[in-house]
This record gives sequence, structure tokens and C-alpha cells, in this order.
Amino acid sequence: MSKPNFDDVLNSLRKVQDPDLKQDLVSLNMIRDLKVFDDGKVTLRVVLTTPACPLKEKIKNDVLAAVKSVASVTDVAITMDAEVRRPGANAGNAAGASAGTVGGGLERGIPGITHIVAVSSGKGGVGKSTVSVNLATSLALEGAAVGILDCDIYGPNIPTMMGVTENPKLLNDPVKGEVFIPPVSHQVKVMSMGFLVQGDQPVIWRGPMLHNILNQFCTRVEWGKLDYLILDLPPGTGDVQLSLAQMIPLSGAVLVTTPQEVSLQDVRKAFNMWEKVKVPVLGIVENMSYFTGDDGKRYHIFGQGGGELLSKKFNTKLLSQNPLVAQIREGGDEGKPIVVKDPASESAQLFRDLARKVAQEISLLDAKAETTPQLEIGRF
Ligand SMILES: Nc1ncnc2c1ncn2[C@@H]1O[C@H](COP(=O)(O)OP(=O)(O)O)[C@@H](O)[C@H]1O
Ligand SMILES: [Mg+2]
Repeated sequence: MSKPNFDDVLNSLRKVQDPDLKQDLVSLNMIRDLKVFDDGKVTLRVVLTTPACPLKEKIKNDVLAAVKSVASVTDVAITMDAEVRRPGANAGNAAGASAGTVGGGLERGIPGITHIVAVSSGKGGVGKSTVSVNLATSLALEGAAVGILDCDIYGPNIPTMMGVTENPKLLNDPVKGEVFIPPVSHQVKVMSMGFLVQGDQPVIWRGPMLHNILNQFCTRVEWGKLDYLILDLPPGTGDVQLSLAQMIPLSGAVLVTTPQEVSLQDVRKAFNMWEKVKVPVLGIVENMSYFTGDDGKRYHIFGQGGGELLSKKFNTKLLSQNPLVAQIREGGDEGKPIVVKDPASESAQLFRDLARKVAQEISLLDAKAETTPQLEIGRF
């Protein structure tokens, strides 16, 4: 039996496209460690742009079919892997890069963190924190390295929702001085601005204070290597939100709304804010969309169709429509996001889907900004 031809195998892979990125896997530098053995066995690693890729199975099957079609191939072993990439050396939003108000290297991003994603809403109580914790936990369940930062100083409830009771540990780093070690829960590193607020002290969120706190979170927290850092922003679109959006180099923002018009008006403002600071909006999450009664019927308590309307108006995606479910609130109170509390539930599945879509949107943005990929295929 003859050994399969290496170039034939490689060329077969050039015909497999990433359905999202619309390029072949070889050009996208997704094929690594390709080896062709004398006995006809082929081994390779497919490196996706996110472990939360919704098309993982399809891509794997397409690769398998392509390689199997090459003459003399007897067996194919594919390892699915992921590397969350950041395009260019100075990725991040233009506003973050030009804010100029933050020292300590923030304008170049936070060392070790690939993507920072803000979860925002025009007003409070729409489920922003609920979406944040379920998004972060879902990404971690997909295998990504994830952190969550609670920036909602008025209602810092991320630690409660993540089930974190202890404060971050303080360590003395010989170079950086005192550093915070974030507690880990549900495989997510958790930090909250609330950790820094003592008791009932009022927080002055202005100028140097804001700058100071942000700097601490970005330079004095030992995040380690993170694929995604999820930020739960304070609700609204005022000065504080604007400053935060400008100071932190964000990859994108997710907007949470409820279906009714009042909430939608607030989201409109949020859209304008993100446009101003040049942060791409990844899409809209419509929360508390409906309630399913004991009779099995869906009741649209807060109206219907708002999220869809907005997504059309602003030319963005409606990423998810999540129902109003008692278990979601209970999970929040218990410190167990629904995706870990009841992974098989419809709500959990919807949040898992949402996380994959968010990861996908980020990969797509990256691809747009990507420079020419370099091939790393060694001949064997
Ligand atoms: N889809 C949902 N179903 C049931 N309860 C929800 C849902 N989303 C949020 N909640 C609950 O509503 C309240 C407000 O949500 P929260 O995430 O704290 O909103 P925000 O951060 O926007 O103020 C919380 O008690 C939360 O558990
Ligand atoms: Mg909140």
C-alpha cells in the first residue's frame, strides 16, 4: 500500500471552509501538526478561534470527510483545539487606545487577557448581572479561561450570584507590590468593585477615583491568562459608564433589554454610547421575554418583539430571547447560575447558545481585523 501524498492531504483541507469566516482552514492557520504516516494514517490538530465555537462538530466532520477522500488514507485522527486570538498587536477599541487618561499600560489592554466583553443595559433590573454570570460560566464550561469583573458599584451582586463569599486574597508581589488573587467559582475568576468598598461607605465615582479603581483592577489583579473577561457594567449610559467604556479596551459589548418600550428607549441610548466610544455591539439579549404557564402557553408579560425591532433598527443580532423562569432567580440567589444549577433546562441551553454566539461574533470581528495568517505546517 502506498503512503498518501502530503500535498494531496493538505489540498483536501484547503477545500474545507470555516462557514463563518468564509475562508479555508489552511489559510486561516487552523490546521496544525499535520502528519501523514506510511500506513496511511493521518493525524492533525484543528485549532478553532474559540473553544465555544458553535460549528465545532460541523468543522470536524468536514475535515474528516475531506481527508478520508484522499487516496490511500486509511485512518484519520483529529484533535479539536482552540486558541482565542487577538488580531494585531494593538487591538482594542479606538476610544480605549486614545482615551489617554489611564496610565499603567491600560491602553494596550490588560496583560494576559485576550478579550474584554462588556455586558450593559440602559437601566437596572433587566437581568444584566444574570446574563453576565451565565455568559461567563457558559464560556468556562466550553473550556475557555474566563474572568468576571463586577463594575456595578451601586449593586455589586456578582459575588453573590457566583456563590463567592470570601474576599480576594492579598499577596505581596516583589515587583507589583500588593496584588489581589481573585476567588474562583464555577471555574470563573471573580472580582468585584464591591470587594474594595468598605461597609456602607459612599463611593465617589469621579475622575481620579474612577481612574484609580480601574487601574487597580487592571494592573493589580492577578487574572493570569484569560480568553475572556466579562464586565458587568453599571446600568445606564451616564458619565460613569462612558468613562468605563473609554478606559477599558473592550472587544465588544452585549446589550441586555426587556421587551417593553421603556427599556428599549434606554437601549437606544446605550447604542449611541457604544457608537460614540467606537466599541462594536455584538448583539442584543432580550431577557424576561416570556413566561410559560402551567397550561404550556407562552405569556408575553412585558410585551413582544422589542428585541427584534431594535436589532433590525440598529443592524445588530438578536442573540437570545430568555424566558422568565423562577429557577433563574433562585440560581442567582443561591450563587449557582442556571447553567450549572440545572444544565439540562431550556434556560440553561439558551444561555449556553448565547455564549457560543458571543464567542462567534468576537471571532468574526477578529477575522475582519486579522492580518495575513502564517502557516505552521511541518512536513513529516
Ligand atoms: N430570565 C429571568 N427569569 C427570572 N428571574 C430573572 C431573570 N433574569 C433576571 N432575573 C432576576 O431579576 C432580578 C434582577 O436581575 P439582575 O440580573 O440582578 O438585573 P440587573 O443586573 O440588570 O439589575 C434578579 O433577582 C434576577 O435573579
Ligand atoms: Mg446587576
